[in-house]
Amino acid sequence: MISSTLEKYQTVAIEDVKVWYKAALVNKFPKNGGACVKYKEKQIAVFNFTREGNWYACQNLCPHKMEMVLSRGMIGEENLEPKIACPLHKNTFSLKTGENLNGSLGAIATYPVRIIDGYVYIGFSE
Ligand code: FES
Repeated sequence: MISSTLEKYQTVAIEDVKVWYKAALVNKFPKNGGACVKYKEKQIAVFNFTREGNWYACQNLCPHKMEMVLSRGMIGEENLEPKIACPLHKNTFSLKTGENLNGSLGAIATYPVRIIDGYVYIGFSE
């Protein structure tokens, strides 16, 4: 059960995007914070990193205790790497590569984001 939940989340490279899912208006997302978007069976955490001027998306599922919480975490930077800290036990993950930056957990899946005409789109391969 746990592994099948995790298997839903696979990093999508921009060249593999087949569907740009129109998630919501830009102003629905807090500045320097996250929100959760549902796409099919997936929960995706989307971050409006205004300090950097970038958007990021990753699985909402924290692989530590399998909790759907990453959209409520704090974003920040470590050695110029944008990161998300899980609100529960502060494991941190790169928002670019998904890598666990402060431990040995598996990487989280990340997804491309683009903004067109005031809307946020997330890239999926299916
Ligand atoms: S559940 Fe995320 S760090 Fe423990």
